[in-house]
Amino acid sequence: HLYAFIDSMCLKCIVELGIPDIIHNHGQPITLPELVSILQIPPAKVSQVQSLMRYLEHNGFFERVRIHEKEAYALTAASELLVKSCELSLAPMIEFVLDPTLSNSFHQLKKWVYEKDLTLFDISLGSHLWDFLNKNPALNKSFNEAMASDSQMMNLALRDCNWVFQGLEFIVDVGGGTGTTAKIICEAFPNLKCIVFDRPQVIENLSGSNNLTYVGGDMFKSIPKADVIL
Ligand SMILES: C[S@@+](CC[C@H](N)C(=O)[O-])C[C@H]1O[C@@H](n2cnc3c(N)ncnc32)[C@H](O)[C@@H]1O
Repeated sequence: HLYAFIDSMCLKCIVELGIPDIIHNHGQPITLPELVSILQIPPAKVSQVQSLMRYLEHNGFFERVRIHEKEAYALTAASELLVKSCELSLAPMIEFVLDPTLSNSFHQLKKWVYEKDLTLFDISLGSHLWDFLNKNPALNKSFNEAMASDSQMMNLALRDCNWVFQGLEFIVDVGGGTGTTAKIICEAFPNLKCIVFDRPQVIENLSGSNNLTYVGGDMFKSIPKADVIL
């Protein structure tokens, strides 16, 4: 466990370098010389990039294959989800969760266990996460993109479990972010009316559709009425 953080940091590194996108755009497994050439890696660092690729291969993010007698790296099911240009991409989630502003918070766990009423983020950021995001538009944007990317997975769930929503008239997605989940549900069930309820700062400037409405507020005070709450 001592070096477990290296797994996360290597994952962050390949997303920052855009390696899954490079392999995806290459259209076939990529050799190390091709990869370092696209990345414009200085010759002195090529073997370190090879170590990075081997490490990520070990963790299931790349597969080492042979193509035209040469060793090359292919995407796996896990790294296909890291291609930023694909609709189903969890890259924004990695960028947000591993942003140092948030990940550094976990150095405060000891302090947190002794604090009766404070959350980890209260301690590390000096305020509730939501207040902090309100004051940091760039991180707030990254958060909303991360949530939206995660919600895209709803597409996969709907494909197999759409019976869950059948026969419903009104649903409200409490803490529904910018409405990615709700939009997917509304498209699949045009007769279903859906409200996305979130902090006013999140839903401001968003416009709904025929069956989708955005409502701002505080879920701890009240939430809109509906048949089902997500
Ligand atoms: C884990 S995220 C869920 C994101 C959402 N499922 C999506 O698809 O984007 C939690 C959401 O709860 C919202 N939230 C936090 N506190 C809230 C409050 N008091 N009232 C309403 N929404 C709140 C946040 O703004 C955030 O969008």
